[in-house]
Amino acid sequence: MAKAKTVFFCSECGGESVKWYGRCPHCGAWNTLVEEAISREKPAPPGQSPREIVKPQAIAKVAAANIQRQTLDMPELDRVLGGGLTPGSSILLGGEPGIGKSTLLLQAAAAMAKRGPVLYISAEESAAQIRMRGERLHALEANLYILAQTDVDEALRQAEEMPLTLLIADSVQALYSPALSSASGSVSQVRAVAAACVAFARKKNIPVMLIGHVTKEGLLAGPRVLEHMVDTVLYFEGERYNSLRLLRAVKNRFGSTNELGVFQMEREGLQPLSDASAYFISNRRPEEPGSAVTCVMQGNRPLLVEIQALVGKSAFGNPRRLAGGYDYNRLLLIIAILEKKLHLPLGDKDVYLSVAGGARADDPAADLAAAAAIVSSLKEKPLPQDVLLAGEAGLLGELRNVGQTEKRCREGAAFGFRHILLPAGSGGETNGIRLLPAKDLQQALTILDLSF
Ligand code: TYD
Ligand code: MG
Repeated sequence: MAKAKTVFFCSECGGESVKWYGRCPHCGAWNTLVEEAISREKPAPPGQSPREIVKPQAIAKVAAANIQRQTLDMPELDRVLGGGLTPGSSILLGGEPGIGKSTLLLQAAAAMAKRGPVLYISAEESAAQIRMRGERLHALEANLYILAQTDVDEALRQAEEMPLTLLIADSVQALYSPALSSASGSVSQVRAVAAACVAFARKKNIPVMLIGHVTKEGLLAGPRVLEHMVDTVLYFEGERYNSLRLLRAVKNRFGSTNELGVFQMEREGLQPLSDASAYFISNRRPEEPGSAVTCVMQGNRPLLVEIQALVGKSAFGNPRRLAGGYDYNRLLLIIAILEKKLHLPLGDKDVYLSVAGGARADDPAADLAAAAAIVSSLKEKPLPQDVLLAGEAGLLGELRNVGQTEKRCREGAAFGFRHILLPAGSGGETNGIRLLPAKDLQQALTILDLSF
């Protein structure tokens, strides 16, 4: 194939240059030129062929799309996708190397292959390597096809000839478009590869799943625009030395972005962890000071997590503060409230806060548990074992209501908590669990027998 003509555009000012410069000749910005293939054809709007004439129509007259989601029978993945795969949609799965992206999608491919042919394009590993992984995962389905190919045009040409139900591309950074001269993995290449795959999904009306690497900063490698091009962006996270893997949606045109999928990486692939609350509080030592349990909401799903705090005298002038699985600035805020409003002597203490088991507690409802854990460690006095804590701390030391208290109560009751400490005025189901209302942190600590 003849090379398509390419030009360079500045990502700052949009200025055009025929060759690459370190500095944009138009606006003077450094390192902003991006190569792009120029094509004479105008892009068609989604779902239409290029030459069709489109007239405006009243919104009520637009034929309703009958979206048929295809579930994968992998409940943890289906839920994060918004109930399954939507035909014609494109899904980008991001994550650090080695976290298990290829494993997850090979399992998804095998599940989908029970319905019809699935093509897994691998630009990183050979077909034999994928087969080896497939053996471990029991994924040797008759309808699952592997294509080891790095040229995206050639791979899609092969895909074109198959009656596919799902296409997987592993990964956007390793595939390349021969239309561009830049190296694979560069901004323009990543964009061209993703664009080709997204267009294929729309044209064939099948779901396409793309794997993307993330940079050290935890962002998808490649331009932000990649996230705009696809319908759904999922992130796969976890710690390397821990088998827990969390899947979340950061963008989803077909569902909520609050859902969380929880897996465990085992010898035979990723296993769903439907009973995640049990996992996160399983190693708890409630008789120790500094441990508090809260219920955070992950979308519609309540999750019990243990917050641990360690408070000790600083050896140096500047006290250290460290947060794991909890927002660092939020920790500083809680410490400030405890110092100023409750007059607790934390100014010369190191404070370490961590959410046990590799979970994250981003829900503001975790504030109360964080504060209680810190005070418990400071006083060296354990919290009552059967009290669940949920409440957002305000700057004045007041406790603010958190939503979905009924679900939190039910989850707590299911795991043996007999009391739940909540901001005064929160509703909640009292079935099996007793509500302990508190209007501010001071009152909460009194109820917990931790007041000074
Ligand atoms: P992989 O899917 O190759 O990661 P990625 O595509 O995100 O780079 O998975 C890598 C790790 O997962 C590897 O270190 C081995 C581990 N693993 C298991 O523990 N069990 C399994 O069944 C499989 C297939 C992999
Ligand atoms: Mg991989």
